Amino acid sequence: MTSQSAQKCAVLESQLVGRSVVTLDDLSTDHIRLLLAKAQYIDEDMKRVAHTCDGRILATLFYEPSTRTRLSFETAMLRLGGRVIGFAGAQSTSATKGETISDTVRVVSNFADIIAIRHPKEGAALVASRAASHAGVPVINGGDGGHMHPTQTLADLSTIQARFGRITDLVVGLCGDLMFGRTVHSLIETLCRFGNVHFVLISPDELKTPRYVIDRIEASRTCDYEEVHDLQDVIGKLDVLYMTRVQQERFFNEDDYLRLRDTYILDPAKMKLAKPDMAVLHPLPRVNEISFDVDADPRAAYFEQVRRGMLMRMALESSLLGDSLPGFSESDECKEVTE
Ligand code: NCD
Repeated sequence: MTSQSAQKCAVLESQLVGRSVVTLDDLSTDHIRLLLAKAQYIDEDMKRVAHTCDGRILATLFYEPSTRTRLSFETAMLRLGGRVIGFAGAQSTSATKGETISDTVRVVSNFADIIAIRHPKEGAALVASRAASHAGVPVINGGDGGHMHPTQTLADLSTIQARFGRITDLVVGLCGDLMFGRTVHSLIETLCRFGNVHFVLISPDELKTPRYVIDRIEASRTCDYEEVHDLQDVIGKLDVLYMTRVQQERFFNEDDYLRLRDTYILDPAKMKLAKPDMAVLHPLPRVNEISFDVDADPRAAYFEQVRRGMLMRMALESSLLGDSLPGFSESDECKEVTE
């Protein structure tokens, strides 16, 4: 007889099959909890899941530079037993001949079982998900312009969960380019759904959080925010400090970028003012925003975040494909999801 928790996990799992993830609003908070639990389960013994996606093919269509996101999507599939096709950079594709994203995705959905896409235009992942739906192939957004980056948020949530044992009841500071930083937008929106977060939004006036993201904080009953300029003034009250790179590629004017890029630099002197268990997150790549001598501080969580991103992508890819992780339904992690 299957236990109640196994049955509940099975229901949640069945709802994920074939879904595209353009933003995390495409998943319920229970689905996100399920993915966190699966990542935890995978981390305990990666060999156990090494054949979960045997015979599957992931396509990575990356029209924008990427190091960790593409390699993480690909490693995730390889570690699950699947294989990978794709391109890194639009210059080697038919986009240079004028092919639309929609047509490219429609073509690739004949080759692959699941697609991860990154594109400089906001909304590109949504277009791709519609094009692939003809073939029932799920599309995962690996970043669309300055809009959203849902799988980075999964990595962030997993890191926060590991550090604090929770993703609610926190003071979360986000610092730097809150205007163009898509990872910031996805993270705020998602934390708002879990609730009880006070956001401290630290940026110059020119790089403030967009209105549509602020609207989400205002609409959530249990979250609130303050906007400030100075990191030093507020660092002492933060549980999480999420540093970001000023997004040079989204600026219209090089002078503005040069003026703003070094506004915030986290260094050991500032870390001295922070709580002893504050977690420093950064989606990476970093440019100047965190000095290298912060890396050895146990509060630095940004390299751990990379590993968690891969585990979360393993959880996500297998779930959207409907490939169950062997043994998961009997695991303690599955029980915790349904408690
Ligand atoms: C981020 C991105 O591409 O939005 N990087 C990542 O995927 N980890 C952040 C950035 O480029 O600054």
